[in-house]
Amino acid sequence: MCGIVAYIGQQQATPIIIKGLKRLEYRGYDSTGISLFNGSELHTIKTMGKVSDLVAKFESLPPIAAQIGIGHTRWATHGVPNDVNAHPQKSNTGDLVVVHNGIIENYASLKEELIHRGYTFSSDTDTEVLINLIEDVQKKEKVKLGKAVQIALSQVIGAYAIVVFDRKKPNELIAARLGSPLAIGVGTDEFFVASDATPFLEYTKNVIYLEEEHLAIIRSDRDVSIRKITNDKVIKPYVEELQMSLENIQKGGYDYFMLKEIFEQPQAIRDTLRGRLLSDEGVINLSSLREHENKFLKAKRIIIVACGTSWHAGLVAEYLLEKFTRTPVEVEYASEFRYRDPIIFPDDIIIAISQSGETADTLAAINIAKERGAFVFGICNVVGSSISRLTDTGCYTHAGPEIGVASTKAFTTQITVLSLLALHLGMVKGTLSRSEYQHHLLELESLPVKVTQILEQESLIKDVAATFREASNCIYLGRGYNFPVALEGALKLKEISYIHAEGYPAAEMKHGPIALIDEQMPVVVIATKKGHYDKVVSNIQEIKSRKGRIIAVVSEGDIRVKELSDHCIEIPESLECFTPILATIPLQLLSYYIAVQRGCNVDQPRNLAKSVTVE
Ligand code: M6R
Repeated sequence: MCGIVAYIGQQQATPIIIKGLKRLEYRGYDSTGISLFNGSELHTIKTMGKVSDLVAKFESLPPIAAQIGIGHTRWATHGVPNDVNAHPQKSNTGDLVVVHNGIIENYASLKEELIHRGYTFSSDTDTEVLINLIEDVQKKEKVKLGKAVQIALSQVIGAYAIVVFDRKKPNELIAARLGSPLAIGVGTDEFFVASDATPFLEYTKNVIYLEEEHLAIIRSDRDVSIRKITNDKVIKPYVEELQMSLENIQKGGYDYFMLKEIFEQPQAIRDTLRGRLLSDEGVINLSSLREHENKFLKAKRIIIVACGTSWHAGLVAEYLLEKFTRTPVEVEYASEFRYRDPIIFPDDIIIAISQSGETADTLAAINIAKERGAFVFGICNVVGSSISRLTDTGCYTHAGPEIGVASTKAFTTQITVLSLLALHLGMVKGTLSRSEYQHHLLELESLPVKVTQILEQESLIKDVAATFREASNCIYLGRGYNFPVALEGALKLKEISYIHAEGYPAAEMKHGPIALIDEQMPVVVIATKKGHYDKVVSNIQEIKSRKGRIIAVVSEGDIRVKELSDHCIEIPESLECFTPILATIPLQLLSYYIAVQRGCNVDQPRNLAKSVTVE
């Protein structure tokens, strides 16, 4: 949540920072701002709204020639979105400015103390407290900026990624992180700092991912120097080469990133399988598992922690892992797990699932599990993310950058990885026969082609969407493996179209939700041949008798459900355990087109941000 971009070097900072902020808008988009130093004056331009509003503000001002600057796009935590609460936030003297992603939990007591010492505040943000605390330390301790930031941060409880600039030290930026990500792009005589590497992709491929509790002093005329905030230990920067290309983060002709990402799924699934599903040899190769396989085989229990869509992938994994490995699985919301003093045995395996690898609650859940001695396996999409580094081992999904706030290809590739894991463990454990294993591998390999076939029905799904765009509520039903798909379908619809939607196991209808059914209520039913078909057909009949309008996702060639439904979307047949990957695709397209037809900005739905780095 919140995007940070900073630049120091020989180029004009403004266009670099603005372009970078646009790329980071997925992290928050309720207000935005930039501070630029032109050699004599520090200019801060801020506005409520999006980066395009900031650009409009810039266009009404004389150009600012600056080679150093910091920028921010905000997802509000403390203080409503407005110009004053937007970042950068200034210190009382006006010398220091900061951009911040995270929450200073003890800001109220720090603020009280600073007010007592004569400081005044114009915003409601915790960030203004932090920058004044840094200024106060600077004054009291007479130390350099880096040291002042370090001392101030040691008094802070909470999470942060920050970049600080002092107009009295105009060739230096200080960056620090705890709980929120920061990447430093290393160019020739120039540096970039950003919440992820996308803002500097076209300038450099060399990146340093700042580690937890590390502080970097960045000067255009020197190498980056890094130290540990807690003990001053000097750290040798580790420069990595970025694998991402500019093309990966552009819309490529699509109206929205979400649509592009939906259509990328055949390739994303292929990329997830590449090098892992070795069809010639008929085996799965998960290198990250190799030396830890025994832990999985001996585990009495697997606990999956995740949030949102990743939690839905976890629910699918519960079915997969229990079926193939016969190991009990529990799936927990990371946000609940972290606060309920969970019982964790040392021989439990924790699987943490996260697209971004930065979700604060999932990170906290992992920390608890590790403190209690459990082994943690991570499934992340973002390479080098906090979760991927905190876990004992894990697998990347390799889905490529997912920028649309609504998660799509992350979900299907997470399930792909989890399928590989479950099948592999089942095979080595002996709970899955070799012939069944081989059969599943063949089917897994065919999934990208089947996903493509579903995507070819885009225009049919668009027409169905037109019929439902005025709905105010919607119910999604599925059973077995398709129950998490119902939850995921409902989440997609509500987050991008603002239509209230709920997912239920189809059989639960009779226990309450059926009271909601009338001729206004659209009910999306996932009624594939392999998913308790007859039972679901009965559920559909129950809805039909109460005049509900049915949109069904069915297996190719289905006749019975087709007769009962108002609209039908066919998906190719597959093994039951892989149905979630296929059945999700039409639901993504349905939500997308309903949202577009309602005039919603699907990539930037209200109140949301792509990675939830605050709890
Ligand atoms: O990055 P993560 O997978 O940890 O994110 C978890 C959720 O915040 C995320 O899935 C969210 O629910 C999506 N907006 C759903 O589309």
